[in-house]
Amino acid sequence: MKFPETASSDERGAGPVDYDAELHLHNRAFRSACAVLAHERVLDIGCGAGKTTRDAARAASAGGAMGIDASGPAIARASALAAAEGVRNVRYEQGDAQTHAFLSQSFDVAISRFGTMFFADPIVAFRNIRGALADDGRLVMMVWQAREANEWSMAVQGDHALSSAAFSLADPSAAEGILDAAGFAHTTFQDVHEPVYYGDSVEAALDWIGGFQSTQEASQSRDAASAERERARLRGIVAQHHRDDGVWFDSRAWIINARCR
Ligand SMILES: C[S@@+](CC[C@H](N)C(=O)[O-])C[C@H]1O[C@@H](n2cnc3c(N)ncnc32)[C@H](O)[C@@H]1O
Repeated sequence: MKFPETASSDERGAGPVDYDAELHLHNRAFRSACAVLAHERVLDIGCGAGKTTRDAARAASAGGAMGIDASGPAIARASALAAAEGVRNVRYEQGDAQTHAFLSQSFDVAISRFGTMFFADPIVAFRNIRGALADDGRLVMMVWQAREANEWSMAVQGDHALSSAAFSLADPSAAEGILDAAGFAHTTFQDVHEPVYYGDSVEAALDWIGGFQSTQEASQSRDAASAERERARLRGIVAQHHRDDGVWFDSRAWIINARCR
């Protein structure tokens, strides 16, 4: 497993870990792959709290960025953060990217950091996104590789793994087939092998893991004894991954690039 030599505490943030802190090493690779130009109009799919949308808006100083997410609370948080950070050329909308009525050809690049694996019908969704892009537009998205390549899922989630949706674009030939069917071409895959950060202490990491939907769902189906065994199992695993600079788990993602023509 590769450990970061230059992870800065600024990027990790202070206090409780959040998704941006967890993925701060992935985000460097993602921002560089997005290569947003000053004049571009960017669409961020499944933007969550919208960090990647704001990063894109800052790069698109003469253009702008829009983030879309199905979650109302995520959009409210993203909008509040944009206002707090003074990013003016960004906007957020709540909606399902699969069916949202985007204005035809109104974006130059669609980006997504782990927001495109959950569509009810991926071909329909990517076709909809393709329609929102200019003829010479491009798609840049980060998705998880197979679960077996992701220690955070295998070790932490154990037998209560995330639904397979999180890994739905892991297989390159299947992902390329979906994108081809949706009208994209020239699909490429960049291997991103960086660890995820789960906090600066065992307690912080256990708090973060306790908030995962998969952890919460699994805990509902356990009796008291089995819940106690699971807590002990997790504490042991987290302790094994605690190093001087925090708690890290290995992970593997793809950055998928595709073009409209
Ligand atoms: C793993 S989170 C990633 C959030 C964000 N991209 C980030 O990196 O911080 C996945 C996000 O995709 C959103 N999402 C899932 N399906 C969606 C859909 N069909 N349309 C829009 N957003 C969707 C979820 O609400 C969630 O916020």
